[in-house]
Amino acid sequence: MDNSQSKQPSETAEITVGNKTILCPVITGTENEKALDISQLRSKTGFVTYDDGFSNTASCLSSITYIDGENGVLRYRGIPIEELAEKRTFVEVAHLLIFGHLPSADERGVFSKLLTSNCMIHDNMVKLFDNLPSSSHPMATLSAMVVTLSAYYPELSNLEINPGEINQIIAELLAKLRTLAAYSYKKSIGEPIIYPKRKYRYVENFLHMMFSTPVDEYPLDKEVVDAIEKILILHADHEQNCSTSTVRLVGSSKANLFASISAGICALWGPLHGGANQAVIEMLESIVRDGGQAKRVIERAKDKKDSFRLMGFGHRIYKNFDPRAKIIKEICDKLLLKLGINDPCLDVAKQIEEIALKDDYFIERKLYPNVDFYSGIILRAIGIPTNMFTVIFAMGRLPGWIAHWKEQRDTPTTKIGRPRQIYVGAPIKHIE
Ligand code: ACO
Repeated sequence: MDNSQSKQPSETAEITVGNKTILCPVITGTENEKALDISQLRSKTGFVTYDDGFSNTASCLSSITYIDGENGVLRYRGIPIEELAEKRTFVEVAHLLIFGHLPSADERGVFSKLLTSNCMIHDNMVKLFDNLPSSSHPMATLSAMVVTLSAYYPELSNLEINPGEINQIIAELLAKLRTLAAYSYKKSIGEPIIYPKRKYRYVENFLHMMFSTPVDEYPLDKEVVDAIEKILILHADHEQNCSTSTVRLVGSSKANLFASISAGICALWGPLHGGANQAVIEMLESIVRDGGQAKRVIERAKDKKDSFRLMGFGHRIYKNFDPRAKIIKEICDKLLLKLGINDPCLDVAKQIEEIALKDDYFIERKLYPNVDFYSGIILRAIGIPTNMFTVIFAMGRLPGWIAHWKEQRDTPTTKIGRPRQIYVGAPIKHIE
C-alpha cells in the first residue's frame, strides 16, 4: 500500500488485491487523523474488509466530539472536557452538543424554559408503570418507557412530516427522560411517584423526584448537586461508542428519535459498557465482604483461564488515562470528605488502582481506571441505589445520543447502516 503524505484532497492510497489495484481517497480529520475511504473496494475488487469489533472502522464523519486516546484528550465541539466540567452546567453542555455552541444567556433561558414546560408525563403513561413488576431493572423500564413516548407523541415521531418540530422533540425527550428515570426508581421501591417542581433546575429536580416523599422534601445539598452535574457532563458524549453507534444505526433507517434512543439505552445496559458502573460496585462490595483481598482479585483478572475481568478498568480508546476518570476521582474524594463518609469500597478501589498500575499485566495492555471506576462510589455516597447507576449514565449520555441522531439526520448523504459479513456456516445442503 502506497500512502502519499500530502494533505491535498487528491491524497490517495493504493490497495492491490490480486491483479486489481484501486486508489482510495485519504480522508484527513481536523486533528490530522487519517482514514482510507474504501467505499469502492467491493465493487472494484470483490473484497470486503473484516474488522471484528470495528476497532479500525470509522462509520461516519462527525463534528461533535474529539478523542485522542493515546494522550487522554476529550473535547466536546472543540472544548476540553476539563473546562466544561469546571465552568458549565449539564444543560449548557447538552445545548453545546446538540446545537453546536454554548448557549447565550437568552438561549439558555429559552432552552431551560422548554425543558421545564415539557417535563411532565402523560397521565395514562404514568399508569403503565403500575403494570410492570416492581422487581424490574430500571434500565428495562426506562428503555420501554422511552420507546412508548412514540405512542403518546406520534405527531413528534414523524419528522419527515413535521421537520420544524425537531427542537420540540429534543426538549420533550431531555425533560421527560429525567422524569421517567426518577419514576422508574420510585416504582422499583414501591413508593408513590413525585412530580417535578418548576422552581428547581435540571439536576435539582432529578434529586427531588428521586428522594422526596409525599411528606418530606429532600434537602438539596450544593455539593451533591454539583457532583451529579459533573458526572452527567463527563458522560454526555463519547463519539462512536457501542450505544451511540446503536442510536446511529437504528436512526439510519429513519426510525424516530424515541425508538433510536430506546435502542441506545439497551446497548448501554451491558456490563462491558454503561453497566460497568454497577458491576464495579458489586465487585468492590464482594471484595469488602471477603475481607478486602484486593490482590486476589487482581490475580483473578490476570488469569486467562478465569473469565473474570477487573470492572472499571480498560478502555477501547484510552490507552494512557481516561481524562474523565481523573476528574471523577477528585469529585469522589471531595464529596466523601464533605459528607463525612468513610466507604470501605473506596479504600479497596484505591488499593486495586495502586496494585494494578504497577503490575506488568495491566501496564503492557495499557489498562487504566475508566470513568466507571469511581463514579459508582460517588453515586453510592449520595444514596443512589446500584441498579440506578446505569440510568444516571443514560441521562448523562442522552445529549450525545441526540446530537449524533440529529447530525446524521441533517446529513443528506447518510446511508442506511448495513455492514457485510463473512459467512462461515454450512455449505449448501438439501432436505432429504
Ligand atoms: N481486566 C482484565 N483484563 C483485561 C481487562 C480487564 N478489565 N480489560 C482488558 N483486558 C485484557 C484482555 O483480556 C486482553 O488481554 P489479552 O491481550 O491477553 O487477550 C487485553 O486486555 C485487551 O482487551 P480487549 O478485550 O481486546 O480490549 P477491548 O478494547 O476489546 O475492550 C473493554 C475494552 C470492553 C472496556 C475491556 O477493557 C473491559 O472488558 N473492561 C471491563 C469492563 C468495563 O470497565 N467497561 C466500561 C468501559 S468504559 C464505558 O463504557 C463507559
